[in-house]
Order: sequence, then structure tokens, then C-alpha cells
Amino acid sequence: MLTLREVSKSYGRVRAVDGVSLRVAAGEVVGLLGPNGAGKSTTVALVTGLMRPDSGSVTVGAAGDPSNASVRRAIGFAPQELALYDMLTATETVTMFARLYGAFRSRRQVLEALDMVGLATRADERVGGYSGGMKRRLNLAVALIHEPPLLVLDEPTAGVDPQSRAHVRGIIRSRAASGCAVLLTTHDMEEAEKLSDRIALMDHGKIQAEGTVDELVAIHGAGSSRVARGLESVLLKLTGRELRE
Ligand SMILES: Nc1ncnc2c1ncn2[C@@H]1O[C@H](COP(=O)(O)OP(=O)(O)OP(=O)(O)O)[C@@H](O)[C@H]1O
Ligand SMILES: [Mg+2]
Repeated sequence: MLTLREVSKSYGRVRAVDGVSLRVAAGEVVGLLGPNGAGKSTTVALVTGLMRPDSGSVTVGAAGDPSNASVRRAIGFAPQELALYDMLTATETVTMFARLYGAFRSRRQVLEALDMVGLATRADERVGGYSGGMKRRLNLAVALIHEPPLLVLDEPTAGVDPQSRAHVRGIIRSRAASGCAVLLTTHDMEEAEKLSDRIALMDHGKIQAEGTVDELVAIHGAGSSRVARGLESVLLKLTGRELRE
């Protein structure tokens, strides 16, 4: 569903993405992990067509370049930086984004989407009054409303409480089970472990390691018995302990 071939992108002299190749198949969840500044959000911007690579190619579906608007309609995108309008209600927000994707949704359909993220009872309130967790869930509803075959979620549970996190994970899993390809970034190792069929560990713009959690822990782990701690130890081993930007 998604293929990146040798994709690179620089901001001036900063090589944010450096020769990344990655595939996400239909029904598969791939977790893109890495320290702050590793290049995850830049990769996401290239995948969602917000930016074009300096070199290499991104293909969505059979032959789609996401810089084409028609291809972007196949992508549901929840950005790391929330882009919601405080003055709109949740229903207005979801309706508006559906239209931007070329999908017209009835009020009933919009309410179903909001119900899925647990916002049905607050659907007609202005987003400005929402908590951080509610905004994050609305961000996800926006990504899902046009039922895209590819979901790209940049830190979908950042700043979200454990209740909401479990709920959001359930939604992501059920979308994958119905055939959606999912690329997600997270700093939550437990979440990455629970959700991802495969992990790509990124640092300095490059994929440093890729595999299932078990494979990564077996190859790079520090012998920890707990898998979640094991994944964190793998990440720290491969990317070092110094603080990032
Ligand atoms: N708009 C920009 N202009 C210049 N440099 C940028 C820009 N966006 C990102 N960078 C730089 O590119 C590199 C990759 O950043 P990116 O946001 O892709 O990392 P990330 O892995 O998403 O980090 P985080 O976990 O903090 O979200 C960093 O060195 C960052 O400072
Ligand atoms: Mg980021």
C-alpha cells in the first residue's frame, strides 16, 4: 500500500531524511520510532504529500505519487501538531475535512465517526473548549472520516490519558484488521509494541533497524525479559543516550 524507495529530504544543510526505504502492506501496522529530531515527521510529510522528496520516490497504492491531490484522498493523516479550528464544533470540523478529501458525509455519518472516538455527546461543542485528549481524538476522527486505505498517524496518542489511549489503540487495530495500512510514530514503547506488526527504528534520517519487536530484541536487545523494556533498550542501544533537540 505504501512504498518508500531511497527517499531523502534536507532542510538547508540538515539532512532530515536520508535514503529511507520502507514498505507498509495493506492490513499492516508499522511503527516508526526514534528520538526527537530523528526524521519521523519529515518522513510522514513526504508520505502524505505535504513535501516532496529531494530524491527517491513515495508510492501510495498501485502507482500513486502523494503530491497528486487524487492520491492524497487515499490517505488519512493525523498530524503531530494539531491543526484544528477552535471556533468550529467537532461536527463542523469533521464535515469540513471530509469535504476537503472529496467525501460528503451526512450528519449521521459524522456523528458515527465522532462516536467511534468517544465524542458523540460533545459533538456540537466548539473545539476550543475541548481538552487535549479530546482534540487528539478528534484529530483521529478527521483522519478516518473518508475511510482511507492508508492511515498515517504522527504521535496519535501524545498527551492522551490511558483510557483514551486504549480506545485509540482499539480503533487503529480494528482499522488494520479491516485491511487498512497504518504507519504510525510514537515515543511510547509499550504502544509501539502493542500496535505494530513491524517496527522501523529511525535516527539521523536513516532507518537504523527494522523488524518485529521480537526480532529487534533478539538481535539488538540487552537480554531484558520484559519485551517493552526490551524495545526501549534496543532503541537506546541503537541511538545512544545523549539528549536530542
Ligand atoms: N521546517 C523545518 N525547517 C528546518 N529544519 C527542520 C524543519 N522540520 C524539521 N527540521 C529538522 O529536521 C530534523 C528532523 O525533524 P523531524 O521533525 O522530522 O523529527 P521527528 O523524528 O519527527 O522528531 P520528534 O520526535 O521531536 O517529533 C531535525 O533535525 C529538525 O530540527
Ligand atoms: Mg515528529
